[in-house]
Amino acid sequence: MKYKSLKLIFLLPILMNLISCTEFPSSKNSTNATKETDVKEAFLDSLLNQMTLEEKIGQTVLFSAGWDITGPTLDTNYINYLKAGKLGAIFNVHSAKGTFEFQKIAVENTRLGIPLLFGYDVIHGHKTIFPISLGEAASWDLDLIERSTRVAAEEATASGIHWTFAPMVDIARDPRWGRVSEGAGEDVYLAVKIAQARVKGFQGDDLSKNNTLLACAKHYAAYGAAMAGRDYNSVDMSERELRATYLPPFKAALDAGAATFMTAFNDLNGVPATGDKFLLTDILREEWGFEGFVVTDYTSVMEMTRHGFSKDEKQAGEQAMNAGVDMDMQSGIFLRELNALVAEGKVSESRINQAARAILDMKYRLGLFEDPYRYCDTIREKETHYKAEYLESAKEMARKSMVLLKNDRQVLPLSKSKKIALIGPLAKDDFNIIGSWAAQGDRNGKAISVFEGIQELLGKTADLNYAKGCEIMGTDKSHFSEAIRTAKQADVVVMVLGESENMSGEAASRTDLNLPGVQKELIAEIKKIGKPLVIVLMNGRPLTLEYENSVADALVEAWWPGTMGGAAVADLLFGEYNPSGKLPITFPRNVGQIPIYYNVKNTGRPYEKDGPEQRFRSRYIDVDNSPLFPFGYGLSYTSFEYSDLSIDKPTLNFEEELKIEVTVKNTGNQDGEEIVQLYVQDLFGSVTRPLRELKRFEKIFLKSGESKVVSFTLSSEDLAFYTLDMSFKAEAGDFKIYVGTNSQAVLEKHFVLN
Ligand code: BGC
Repeated sequence: MKYKSLKLIFLLPILMNLISCTEFPSSKNSTNATKETDVKEAFLDSLLNQMTLEEKIGQTVLFSAGWDITGPTLDTNYINYLKAGKLGAIFNVHSAKGTFEFQKIAVENTRLGIPLLFGYDVIHGHKTIFPISLGEAASWDLDLIERSTRVAAEEATASGIHWTFAPMVDIARDPRWGRVSEGAGEDVYLAVKIAQARVKGFQGDDLSKNNTLLACAKHYAAYGAAMAGRDYNSVDMSERELRATYLPPFKAALDAGAATFMTAFNDLNGVPATGDKFLLTDILREEWGFEGFVVTDYTSVMEMTRHGFSKDEKQAGEQAMNAGVDMDMQSGIFLRELNALVAEGKVSESRINQAARAILDMKYRLGLFEDPYRYCDTIREKETHYKAEYLESAKEMARKSMVLLKNDRQVLPLSKSKKIALIGPLAKDDFNIIGSWAAQGDRNGKAISVFEGIQELLGKTADLNYAKGCEIMGTDKSHFSEAIRTAKQADVVVMVLGESENMSGEAASRTDLNLPGVQKELIAEIKKIGKPLVIVLMNGRPLTLEYENSVADALVEAWWPGTMGGAAVADLLFGEYNPSGKLPITFPRNVGQIPIYYNVKNTGRPYEKDGPEQRFRSRYIDVDNSPLFPFGYGLSYTSFEYSDLSIDKPTLNFEEELKIEVTVKNTGNQDGEEIVQLYVQDLFGSVTRPLRELKRFEKIFLKSGESKVVSFTLSSEDLAFYTLDMSFKAEAGDFKIYVGTNSQAVLEKHFVLN
């Protein structure tokens, strides 16, 4: 049933009146868009005029309904706040019926009937779960990433949700930090492109449609740089590094239209992000022109007292609001303290008006004043969840997100007639496979395990034998013997190993990035049998895989691949799909190398592997500087040859474009996709420059034997950086271009910018 708007006594007349009576400027230039904006602004003026200070403050308050599996457990106090018009938004209610019930209270039982805004963490799918965000990033497939967020938006909005706390656009270079799983990896250029695709997917082209929701770029800012990879930890970095590396994905999200921003938990250079005027007002609003609203992260206004930044909650409220926060998630401090802060002159009423207006503006843009129940349609909800086409997209995304890390002697793809032993704690798993923060995705019974995926692909009569061998964690080896027996009877062993879903994500930092529990010991026992060994990994972050890499014949990084994950793994193992994913983050050899990422500086004493005296060099004495698998790396069942890299001119001026071409040939005997990557090195600058930076990429499909010329163009804008005086511009000088299959690409050309 489609719930009808029941009561908007105060607002509907205002709205109707405005629409019919507003006089618009009659000039020829006045477009429909400006008329609509005028109507909206007049409506908001009129509404704000009628609101008491308390009601305006109410719009800045967000509480969780604390739903669990048995239903809503909204604190009765919240209901009272809601009835008193002191609550503007709720999160963690996630059904058409549930949101309807809360909305009905807001519309019918409050003085002005202002509708609530419903938020929820829709991170990598709502019901149909796609691979974790880091996995999606490994596809480098922007259209598919946009499609994935579109599907999430379709499903979530059908469950009454107006606003997602995504995309997470934090650059992350430290795999100890569990939240690397939620972002797009370590690289600025790739993260910028992905941030834009995700915002577009969530918000669509028109927020007033009931299948679009507000996006929220989080966590602003520099949360991914938490010291030592420990979640919530402090960040201290130069403004140059902040602007060059951590801010661009936020700016990109804003440029793509992101309606809201979320503050970060961390303190940045001594100031908690939630109280940081420099971030929230000077940069976000004044420099970038952001017009949406800023929400805090969970209780982070309150946490400013623990940071040692605010002497008490009242001061925290004052600092947050004055810094530029518009909505307080879960602290209740705006609710309790803002009234008095205004009375005391510590927070201006105009600042409250600004915050309330930004929030009401979004409610208006979503069409909630016209029909507060427009997202509460239980029939649509039922029809929308798990549509066959969504599951198909999820499978496609999962196939494209997987990265083939090793494939000796072409052990993959497997022949369907081989006798397979499927071993490991994740081989039959349909719980962890959808990963952390999987919204309303069903786990057991819905997600497809690798075992089911293979069985489905090969048919029920397949010669597939399974043994779990051990748990993900723990020390129990009592099931090793069964796994060994199973492996002995097979032609090839496929082990599915990794982390449990709660080992990555929020508050899941690790100092040991080895496979947990006794999984490595299980590998060692299976290896002794001497059968071809394929290891499929499911995890939320780069792991340290030197051992696995040394013993496995093939290694596949499957991340947490989502609802259709097992089917996608099966397709990949048996060659129904030729792997094309490339790592969006560097895999270290060991934890001691962390942070390790590709776009480092050279230092004054670079290590040269084959150079003469190497003692006093920037290196470790116990391990090579190189990662185990570099950024951009990933193999295919076919092979690609790069040749004839050319540039159209050796010298470029600041107004010209440089055209770059390279020939890529599929030299293997299978069709396949390749992600062609272009990196630039600025050889010297007014500040030191990274050894290479990704500037372009293109995903191409080549039939076996086929070649293609791939062209790119660059201009001086692509060479810009924060120079010594912090102006963002390119400097004249020498540059190198590298094009190839990963960040260690070897084909190079030199050019001069002058
Ligand atoms: C997380 C956010 C999330 C919020 C609401 C916090 O703990 O840091 O990413 O959006 O909770 O669930």
